[in-house]
Amino acid sequence: MTPLFQQINEQGPVSLAITALGGLGDGVGRLASGQVVFVAGLLPGDEALVTVVGLRKGVARGHVQRLLTPSPQRSQPECAAFGVCGGCNLQHLSLAGQLEHKRAQLQRIVGTAVQVQATAIDPHGHRRRTRMHLRRAVDGLQVGFLASKSDSIAATPHCLALEPELEALRRRCAQVLGPWLQVGEIAAVVGKEGITALLSAKTNAPPPAAAELAQQLGVVGLRYSIGHHRDHWGLMDVALPEIEAPWTVRTAADGFCQASATANRALRATIAQVLDMAGPHESAQEFFAGAGNFTDLLLHRYGHVRALERDAHACTRLAQSAAAAGWGQRLHVVQSQVAAALTPPHGRQLWLLDPGRLGAPEVTAAATKWRPQSVVYVSCALDTLGRDCATLVNAGYRPVAAAVVDAFPWTVHTETVTLFCQ
Ligand SMILES: C[S@@+](CC[C@H](N)C(=O)[O-])C[C@H]1O[C@@H](n2cnc3c(N)ncnc32)[C@H](O)[C@@H]1O
Repeated sequence: MTPLFQQINEQGPVSLAITALGGLGDGVGRLASGQVVFVAGLLPGDEALVTVVGLRKGVARGHVQRLLTPSPQRSQPECAAFGVCGGCNLQHLSLAGQLEHKRAQLQRIVGTAVQVQATAIDPHGHRRRTRMHLRRAVDGLQVGFLASKSDSIAATPHCLALEPELEALRRRCAQVLGPWLQVGEIAAVVGKEGITALLSAKTNAPPPAAAELAQQLGVVGLRYSIGHHRDHWGLMDVALPEIEAPWTVRTAADGFCQASATANRALRATIAQVLDMAGPHESAQEFFAGAGNFTDLLLHRYGHVRALERDAHACTRLAQSAAAAGWGQRLHVVQSQVAAALTPPHGRQLWLLDPGRLGAPEVTAAATKWRPQSVVYVSCALDTLGRDCATLVNAGYRPVAAAVVDAFPWTVHTETVTLFCQ
């Protein structure tokens, strides 16, 4: 039997109408045979002449030969490195188109009984944390992000998405580290006090002390591991500026915090709204609590909160914040893998979970067994949210509010908030 891959190749360039956007941002169309084809750079509404170049695991890939009819949602990418840099690969879709695409995806997951709300975030200079690669090249030290589908660093003259302070750090890294550093990585986050950074690198020369290097780099804190040299100086964590007193949320360069202050403000406002919609509860459990980014919203509303998080530093920061705010007695912080510390609710309880991209099948399974009154699911991954949402709905929970906060504009990713009630 002739493999399908050969059959597709024999068709040569074909005219392809793009009808959907794939999970990684590629345009998706169908050949006359019914075979689905993914094409990088195309958008729903585009029609293009495409060469089908291969088939793996039943998925065909195509290359654009010529755009025949552009989608009305196309826009001119603003970044000079678009198509080269691996980040921000959806800049050719208008911001309104991106938001609607993400809103429609969540709508498909939660069904038609609720109207999904959507909040746009301005992408310019919004990203407050970064991990940049450092590599020696003939013309100096390259500092930046990996090129698309490659392990080389993309030439990005100016990153439009980074907060200006981080973009300035990128330039200072090239100047300061350029004369002596070979290869490495720097993670950095901007908070109220400035930037704290974590540098790991290789070099043949002994590095300056962390205090001196931090001053040269213009950061308020620096920890490094350079060759066999280790040192640190200044603040190892910084406070998120959008969090209001008496609460504080502190984050380290290698810890977790939401991608931008503007998105986090919108996310917290959305969560506050759905908590108010959910009505009174005696207590709450929070899963994947981090350093307490949403915990104050729960402490404001419920008598007792149990917060689970596996990262020991984040747990310490959370407990310190609660003690300083005078809420220590009402918060029980549990440092654990979520799966190992699930407990049934007492009385009328709300569960709030904010897992990473893998989702939280263990939490949704526990919810179907122990049936907390309400579940607020904050998700950054629509595929795993879809799976976990199905678990809750099959067990009799109803989505009663759902919202997209487009925390990652110019990319396929987004934050979402969904409230499930019994
Ligand atoms: C998406 S972050 C959310 C943190 C917090 N809600 C925030 O907005 O900053 C997910 C958090 O879950 C934690 N985490 C991931 N997997 C976990 C697990 N299996 N058990 C416990 N915590 C986990 C991570 O350390 C991280 O702090």
